[in-house]
Amino acid sequence: IAGVPGGIERTFIAVKPDGTQRFLIGEIIKRFETKGYKLVAIKAIVPSRTLAEKHYEDLKGRPFFNGLVKYMTSGAAPVIAMVWEGKDVIRQGRRLIGATNPLEAQPGTIRGDFCISVGRNIIHGSDSFESAEKEIGLWFGKSEVIEWEFGNAEWVT
Ligand code: PPS
Repeated sequence: IAGVPGGIERTFIAVKPDGTQRFLIGEIIKRFETKGYKLVAIKAIVPSRTLAEKHYEDLKGRPFFNGLVKYMTSGAAPVIAMVWEGKDVIRQGRRLIGATNPLEAQPGTIRGDFCISVGRNIIHGSDSFESAEKEIGLWFGKSEVIEWEFGNAEWVT
């Protein structure tokens, strides 16, 4: 489901509720789209506690785990869950997003340009092929991920 590692891959990208509330959905989609990636699944969703806990299961036991789950599931605004496809999209997606620590997120990256707090960092992206595989399967059913090709000029003539 996550494609071929190092080739045409798929990754799970989510605009977190603070990103949605701050009108950053379009900006985030634009950065992936103009980089050259293909949007193959998207939905607005308020995740259940079970889904959020499964998504972040590797972080269980960390002091911020409960707060992170609460933030993702609050319903103050939906999470915009997406699957993006293309060459090296897992690692390139992480480059577009920037570092988790706001002090290390370079200007020019999504986090570097739009956030200052690790606990409100507007976007999530899978950090490995294995995570992408797990996360896409968790957030999307097979029929929600669409195979399609970039168009040709006929559409605009
Ligand atoms: S790790 O395991 O130490 O490398 O964790 P890290 O990659 O730094 O962070 C994993 C995710 O946890 C989020 N995080 C936090 N959320 C809330 N509060 C605090 N203090 C905090 N620290 C880390 C971080 O944003 C990562 O979330 P995702 O959604 O995966 O980017």
